[in-house]
Amino acid sequence: MPRARVKDRLLARIRDRSATTGVIGLGYVGLPLAMEFAEAGFNVIGYDVSERVVRSLMRGESHIQDVPARQVAKHVKSGRFLATTDEARLVDADAISIAVPTPLAKTRDPDMSYVIAASEAVARRARAGMLVVLESTTYPGTTRDVLQPRLEERGLVIGTDVFLVFSPERVDPGNPTWHTKNTPKVLGGITPACTEVATALYESCIDRVVPVSSPEAAELVKLLENTFRSVNIAMVNEMAIICDRLGVDVFEVIDAASTKPFGFMRFSPGPGIGGHCIPLDPHYLAWKMRTLNYKTRFIDLASEVNSAMPDVVVRKVADALNDERKALRGSRVLVLGVSYKKDIDDMRESPALDVIRLLEERGSEVEYHDPHVASYLEDGHVRSGVALTDSVLTRADAVVVITDHSAIDWARVSAKASLIVDTRNAFGRSGPTKARVVALTPRAPSPAAAQSKPNPARPVRPVRPVRPVRPVRPAKAAKPATRKRPRPR
Ligand SMILES: NC(=O)c1ccc[n+]([C@@H]2O[C@H](COP(=O)([O-])OP(=O)(O)OC[C@H]3O[C@@H](n4cnc5c(N)ncnc54)[C@H](O)[C@@H]3O)[C@@H](O)[C@H]2O)c1
Repeated sequence: MPRARVKDRLLARIRDRSATTGVIGLGYVGLPLAMEFAEAGFNVIGYDVSERVVRSLMRGESHIQDVPARQVAKHVKSGRFLATTDEARLVDADAISIAVPTPLAKTRDPDMSYVIAASEAVARRARAGMLVVLESTTYPGTTRDVLQPRLEERGLVIGTDVFLVFSPERVDPGNPTWHTKNTPKVLGGITPACTEVATALYESCIDRVVPVSSPEAAELVKLLENTFRSVNIAMVNEMAIICDRLGVDVFEVIDAASTKPFGFMRFSPGPGIGGHCIPLDPHYLAWKMRTLNYKTRFIDLASEVNSAMPDVVVRKVADALNDERKALRGSRVLVLGVSYKKDIDDMRESPALDVIRLLEERGSEVEYHDPHVASYLEDGHVRSGVALTDSVLTRADAVVVITDHSAIDWARVSAKASLIVDTRNAFGRSGPTKARVVALTPRAPSPAAAQSKPNPARPVRPVRPVRPVRPVRPAKAAKPATRKRPRPR
């Protein structure tokens, strides 16, 4: 076929839905995307190296909470969706989207092995008239450095024979409002023709497509978004530490600041960050910049503050037990919620793992309850959760709230537990709880409680005395002001 017609033919096949789409990696990102392609009327080949994943999908089951099994079953039954471990099937695809993991190595450098393996699979099956889209979060330059040469080695010209694009996935597991279809999709191709073809494909199933001028810009969009979150979460975590030292309720401060209609965006402190994105992605950018001899100070500092939060939580537990003449060693601690965020089952990088490890290192006996995580595997050991019974709550010396799932019976927790360390503000401002609740910072009285007289039947715990604040010395005019980097506690 004349080269000029390759693009037009692919565009026509996308428009009339006769194109077949392929998705490599059927996880949190790949499976929802495959379903959107199928819903839009394309035949979809999902390729995954995991036999377990492929077998369960072909049985019409779903291993991803946000994808209903009935949707998978419908498309498997109609023949529109095929999951396979057979890489050779990719040769039938007119467009291939790659959504494989991009973890960090032990050294905190990018582990590109999955992207390289997927790129080699694509290159082996590539042919003229194919669109290739990398969706895995990665450092700027990956599409051009890793994928482009592998396609060119096959004698294919980018922008004429094959079309190569980066498009970051923005899936937010468990988000009831924003999902793959209605979240705008950014994409940037190696050439304008690449961007044009990818825009046509994604416009067929996603409400809004946002083209940018290059793959590097698209790669950086994702890294900016996640670095923005990491830095702001670190800032608000540090604000919690500051408020605690000053004896102020950080949530009261955040609630009031959030009434500002412009120039402020709400972030909440907590026990640390988790998931496959926020703790990892900024390190891809930091690594890339190290190769260019530039130190990414915001990224490094945010990571330092956020990764110290589990330690802050364990100190809170130790102090709270100490107030009751108990030590961490030998105390029973019930951790409530272990997934990295509310109402999902994802344990990856969850701060609960660090909190549990630190508590056990100090001799506590730890159990956990999570309505979304019956058990999980860590370092080759399976840990199983317990049911949230009255006896589990009453026998705990401390209950530590790490994830405030909606499905937890909070009324029962406050009725049966004696001591609760609440890292998520699950119990709000101090209202009538039977249990003693210790939050990340002192809790302000609720507005209603503040207006009424203290209930004499319920002794009000005195707030710990505020450490005196050292007077600030006036800076010498000639010397530039220096700031010490805050050390996480
Ligand atoms: N999970 C999220 O919330 C999220 C959000 C946005 C972006 N991302 C990014 O998307 C990418 C994928 O993440 P995920 O959460 O979907 O991962 P995941 O672990 O849920 O799924 C990845 C799938 O890829 C498969 N796989 C691994 N290597 C393969 C190979 N060579 N060939 C075929 N299949 C292979 C695995 O078996 C697995 O099923 C990552 O780069 C991640 O950073 C994730």
